[in-house]
Amino acid sequence: MADKAVTLTIDNQAIELPIITGTVGPDVIDIRKLYAQSDRFTFDPGFTSTASCESQLTYIDGDQGVLLHRGYSIEQLSEESSFMEVSYLLLNGELPSKAELKDFSYTISRHTMLHEQLATFYRGFRRDAHPMAIMCGVVGALSAFYHDSTDISDPQQRTIASHRLIAKMPTIAAMAYKYSVGQPFMYPDNSLSYTGNFLRMTFGVPAEHYEVNPVVEQALDRIFTLHADHEQNASTSTVRLAGSSGANPFACIAAGIACLWGPAHGGANEAALNMLREIGTPDKIPHYIARAKDKNDPFRLMGFGHRVYKNYDPRATVMQKTVREVLTALNVKDPIFEVAMQLEEMALNDPYFIEKKLFPNVDFYSGIILSAIGFPTTMFTVLFALARTVGWVAQWNEMISDPGQKIGRPRQLYTGPAQRDYVPLSKR
Ligand code: CMC
Repeated sequence: MADKAVTLTIDNQAIELPIITGTVGPDVIDIRKLYAQSDRFTFDPGFTSTASCESQLTYIDGDQGVLLHRGYSIEQLSEESSFMEVSYLLLNGELPSKAELKDFSYTISRHTMLHEQLATFYRGFRRDAHPMAIMCGVVGALSAFYHDSTDISDPQQRTIASHRLIAKMPTIAAMAYKYSVGQPFMYPDNSLSYTGNFLRMTFGVPAEHYEVNPVVEQALDRIFTLHADHEQNASTSTVRLAGSSGANPFACIAAGIACLWGPAHGGANEAALNMLREIGTPDKIPHYIARAKDKNDPFRLMGFGHRVYKNYDPRATVMQKTVREVLTALNVKDPIFEVAMQLEEMALNDPYFIEKKLFPNVDFYSGIILSAIGFPTTMFTVLFALARTVGWVAQWNEMISDPGQKIGRPRQLYTGPAQRDYVPLSKR
């Protein structure tokens, strides 16, 4: 809602820019007409001061360490609800009733199988392919298999595509894992929960009955909840940008997966555990802290720092508690947990990290739990992608449903050569 304005003076010309106020959070200055009025662009690479869209899904207060989905805090959601409930909430705006949740879970379970021909698609990948590479390829390929849900102007097709993506992601992820270890693919078992089914497809084998461990199931479900959405991060913005051209949802989510893979984003969970293993023992921590602070060393503490959180990432708090629960329940004594705890303490008391407001983020502790459950590090980012899919499709749906939606088309500050004459090859 715009009831205030600021005035920008350029070349003695006063330009009035409306201020828009959201429900909570900082006001935004509406610069949509700035170029037309002043012949100037704004310059904000990395979007540090730019809101790229309006959204009703997720709110983050980075200074206070607050994360809300549709108004509900991540602490309450991760403590009291399931990933299916949070998925319903993100997609529909309200928490489901008992009947709505049952219905939604049933609908998702009806889409868990993959087209049989996709199994042969996997066999085109090398056995040592990174599962994120497989995931990008297979999710992109879904658009070649489910033609009846690629017309984005039809809300019904958009809903079916969203349900398909949420439902098939565990199957795709588990198959990527099975392919890498040379075991047969496991078909989904729809009598299990969303997360229980994923565990069975990943760790079960056709020759034996697989019993889902309820502690592991609950911990993994909570990890999925913690990763479900996170406002306009790099991969979500990628999904929105890809979707703004009218591309089909499967292609857009494949683009999001590609973006998530980077170590500055979702790839940090894999990088964080690798770093903790490299550190190995508490006595080596000071050496790595010194490296992280050294301007001439590219090393960073993985799982530390965040573009938006300048306080403890609330997801990291829940994650740290969950690590303790899982390690105790599985009777796993992982010395890496001790390294992580001591590293966190040392960093949080170090002037460099205090001054730059660098705190543990969601990726700092997640790898320890995933590793205790039995996932190899290469699967960590895959699990992030699986859970984030609901956020991606909810954001994509919100964008497509907006009647004022336009193709995303940033401008640039050009610093290359001005126009010049071509020099023929013989004269160069
Ligand atoms: N270790 C050491 N120094 C750091 C770190 C770190 N992890 N993170 C930031 N800094 C320093 C950085 O060198 C810079 O110092 P200076 O101002 O002297 O140049 C300052 O802090 C600000 O960093 P930045 O890179 O300009 O900040 P950003 O907002 O662009 O980057 C980030 C945010 C998450 C990419 C960055 O903190 C980072 O690389 N962290 C490690 C990777 C990581 O854990 N990523 C997961 C993010 S949370 C989950 C997700 O989004 O997927």
